Amino acid sequence: MLVGMLTAIDVRSKIPEVRGLPGIGCVPWMLRDGPGFLLREARTHGPLFRVKLGPGGLLVVAHPRDLRVILHDQAKDFVRGNTVDLVRPLLGNGLPLSDGDFWLKQRRTMQPAFNRGHIALLAEKMAAVCERRLADIPVGSTTDVHRFFTHLARDVIVETMFSDSVASETDRLDEAFSAVSEFAGSRAFSPVKVPLEWPLPSNTRFREAISTIDRVVASIVKRRRDGECKGDLLDALLDAVDPETGEAMAPEHLRDELVTIFFAGHETTANMLTWAWVELSSHPEWSHRMRDEILALAPDRALDANDLPNLPITNAVLREALRLHPPAWIFARQRLEPCTIRGFDVRAREVLLLSPYVTHRLEEFWPDPDTFDPQRFLDGNPMTLGGGREMHYLPFGAGPHVCIGNFFAITEGVIAMGALARHARLAIIEPSRVRSVIAATLTAGNTAARVERW
Ligand code: HEM
Repeated sequence: MLVGMLTAIDVRSKIPEVRGLPGIGCVPWMLRDGPGFLLREARTHGPLFRVKLGPGGLLVVAHPRDLRVILHDQAKDFVRGNTVDLVRPLLGNGLPLSDGDFWLKQRRTMQPAFNRGHIALLAEKMAAVCERRLADIPVGSTTDVHRFFTHLARDVIVETMFSDSVASETDRLDEAFSAVSEFAGSRAFSPVKVPLEWPLPSNTRFREAISTIDRVVASIVKRRRDGECKGDLLDALLDAVDPETGEAMAPEHLRDELVTIFFAGHETTANMLTWAWVELSSHPEWSHRMRDEILALAPDRALDANDLPNLPITNAVLREALRLHPPAWIFARQRLEPCTIRGFDVRAREVLLLSPYVTHRLEEFWPDPDTFDPQRFLDGNPMTLGGGREMHYLPFGAGPHVCIGNFFAITEGVIAMGALARHARLAIIEPSRVRSVIAATLTAGNTAARVERW
């Protein structure tokens, strides 16, 4: 019965519309398994369709040709607008939430800290964090893979971008990050948006989590102002001046960018590594090929950034994990005026939902799309990290807003794989029980693993 209602199509509208249940639309399916639901509908109706959610709805756009228009050719006209208001209480006007001249100014200020040359200098710190974290999981122990990589990625961000440590705050900070992430995940498709000021336990937890994160970030800034320069992202933001007015970055903008890097820079990378090990646990032949490649290049040392181009298999494993399980599985745009997509009318401010998860599994572009097969990246698919004109692979987005941390994330991923190749492999105990969890990003649950000798 439910399935019948769900797939009912409004034939009067030119773009197929998935209406779901009266009043609430497709909310139950989006909450239960958003990625799976959108993929099923895209396979049924094609990569352009509307989804009803409560009184409103979304226009899902997943075909690479349309993505190229939105993200690249007409990127200036398709803005984030109010599609990102849900995470604004946490990230303010940070880079992933901003548009136009303000975005451009902030991006130019931050870009040098993310250039390849600069990230190459951070590889040593990344490797040191990996070695330290691996010491906590000796061979023979068990660990939760998602937790392990979340802690690793959190330390990497703090030590590379802020040259600091949050050792005394880790528990409270981790709790705060998972609280805001869960909150964002649970509210994204909720038909009723309860005001944040209402004294509900979930609202209180969210506000307290933001205060904790703010306090930690403020203490990092204070320590730096009282101490010496380190030449890192934090210095770049503290030294940034407006070329027209000569003024320093306003404290609230500094706060927003730091919280953004903290948040966007660790949960995503942790999920990439988690999903890679979920797949490697079921495809041990690839974990052995990856390890052989790494040890042939660097049998007794940590990897560095110069090694990256010489590790095609390791790169392909990470690319394939990002294809099947893109941590940023959706993001959104809107146009302030009406427009057309493929000749179909689109209303002003209609929310356009772009889903790398769906695009990455379109049969037209990816043969056998649901199968983990890194070979596809060794056989001709470019190892692109986004930003070009090819739009069938966009785990890091594309166009001018392409993820500023894409090379940082891949460097960290390869270096972590290098450390594991010399230490142990992570064998998920029950791969069939691993499930997707929708928080702010696409994460994995039930990832308990044995730490095994290779
Ligand atoms: C595997 C890891 C990562 C994934 C999958 C990922 C994904 C993405 C995606 C899809 C976007 C584009 C969003 C849009 O167009 O609206 C984005 C933007 C962004 N990401 Fe990442 N990201 C990752 C790692 C990182 C890291 C490590 C950092 C920072 C250290 C970072 C910081 C940012 C920022 C600041 C933006 C906004 C860029 C702009 O609008 O100019 N991300 N990311």
